[in-house]
Amino acid sequence: MDFSITITINVLMPMKMNKYSQIFGVATFFVFIACTHSVQSASLSQAGVATAHPLATEIGEKILKNGGNAIDAAVAISAALAVVEPYGSGIGGGGFWLVHTVVDGKDVMIDGRERAPYAAHRDMYLDKDGNVDHKKSMDGALAAGIPGVPAALQYLAEKHGLLDLSTSLEPAINLARDGFKVDEKFIQMLKFRLPAILASAESSRIFLNNNALPEVGYIIKQDDLANTLELIANEGMDGFYRGVMATKLVNGVKEAGGIWSLKDLAEYQVVAREPVVSQYKGMKVTSAGLPSSGGIVMAEVFNMLSSIEQKKKTDSEQIHLIVETMRRAYRDRAEFLGDSDYIQVPVKKLISQAYADLLSADIDNDDATPSSSLKPVAFESGGNNTTHFSVIDQRGNRVAATLSVNYPFGSGYMVPGTGVLLNDEMDDFSAKPGVPNAYGLVGAESNSITAGKRMLSSMTPTFLETQDRIAVLGTPGGSRIISMVILAALEFHKGGDARSMVNLPRFHHQYLPDNIYYEKGALSEKNIEELELMGHRLSEGSAWGNMHAVIWNKTKKTIDAASDQRGIGKAVVIKE
Ligand code: DON
Repeated sequence: MDFSITITINVLMPMKMNKYSQIFGVATFFVFIACTHSVQSASLSQAGVATAHPLATEIGEKILKNGGNAIDAAVAISAALAVVEPYGSGIGGGGFWLVHTVVDGKDVMIDGRERAPYAAHRDMYLDKDGNVDHKKSMDGALAAGIPGVPAALQYLAEKHGLLDLSTSLEPAINLARDGFKVDEKFIQMLKFRLPAILASAESSRIFLNNNALPEVGYIIKQDDLANTLELIANEGMDGFYRGVMATKLVNGVKEAGGIWSLKDLAEYQVVAREPVVSQYKGMKVTSAGLPSSGGIVMAEVFNMLSSIEQKKKTDSEQIHLIVETMRRAYRDRAEFLGDSDYIQVPVKKLISQAYADLLSADIDNDDATPSSSLKPVAFESGGNNTTHFSVIDQRGNRVAATLSVNYPFGSGYMVPGTGVLLNDEMDDFSAKPGVPNAYGLVGAESNSITAGKRMLSSMTPTFLETQDRIAVLGTPGGSRIISMVILAALEFHKGGDARSMVNLPRFHHQYLPDNIYYEKGALSEKNIEELELMGHRLSEGSAWGNMHAVIWNKTKKTIDAASDQRGIGKAVVIKE
């Protein structure tokens, strides 16, 4: 564990455009306890940041130290991750920012999810025989939805930030221009997506070294991306969605076989949505609403668990019950969920206790329910890269943000002269009812492709609140995101700290395939035997997820933060 303690005297930098700089124009002492993959617990903590990349975490810290709030830090981190973790998220992608603002005590979900281009249509990824051509929905310009991140950055800064957008974007612009050193994970991800990267001359020029995988320590500089971020810093979202940049994007996409138009870009808007709120035995769970399925699936699971978990159970019985609730809630995901601006979704009913009681009525304490025996879905699908970060600032504002380009490095296609690597989020639609997507998720008409519609997501940025603690958490992981957040929430409810939440060995069930997947150490030999006896099918998989959590203990007045040991992220606690 890399553990370093530094004491900095932070005399606030003169911030050119900080509307509130006068408020913070005092020298402040901060003690930073920084640590990779881990925890900090201290007596007088004030703020915490946990992200998937050390450089992004450091940028978040700086913003907080220099008078920014959690939302400014979120803007700066989102942009920094676009530079150093392009396999997870980027300005060519989208995401959800769950925001709590102390000033009004409100929670809001900023929906910066990609939309289908207006020329998109239901069968656009089917071949002449009616089969889904996954290559088309995953690689290259045709796979890209209209990005939401640039619009979200402006919205977040203007609506909730203390700093100007340009101040928060500056560190990322410098990082793109000055370059950063690639690490082992970056190379692994490049290797995984090499064919899609090689198919794009611009991606190859930026990410590869003479068309070959770079070595650890190779420096990646992104001048075009720096210029594009600068345009956004100076002109706001219009610098991306209109004018010269929009023309470059549309032309670049069309030349590469895509279908974007200037109208698609000009009409993109973020939406401020109400989060989904549920309860589990005295714990309040606030999470993403549609077009993310996360909050609804979690609400169903917690409602079912609240009513069936009465008696003391053995470990295996408890795991069995959790799996059975996941099975039923993921089934509903496949049938009912999609973009509620385009389809009717009975959200109120789905998240009601009465519905959970009905749904859980046939859960047998001793036997697995085969997914095939549940009411069939008239057919939709989940993931491997994406990013999550969590921030709580000195004032109690908080942000949980999960951002994505979908598959590692998205579609692989970078629009020439822009530095913008495009997402392949169109694969999150159900290209054909019942045919699984990249994450094995199946879906129905509710998530079919329609012009302008947002594709259903599993991204689940979440706040958990008990009487004395508040947690901010989330993770990448496609369809498994929701089950990871559920398990971490149960761990938090039991009193677990940030480290145990993010490092917890995981198990997962998503209705179809009818299988419990588990990480090494998640289930004992005895659990496996007992679950098999109940009729479950199980398989051990390699580790998944990359969770980042920050916890505020209101009673002890401490902050605790941790980054998943499965990744290369970093968590810091800032103490005054
Ligand atoms: O929005 C979604 O659900 C997916 N695009 C997320 C993909 C993902 O998490 C990949 N990560 N490991």
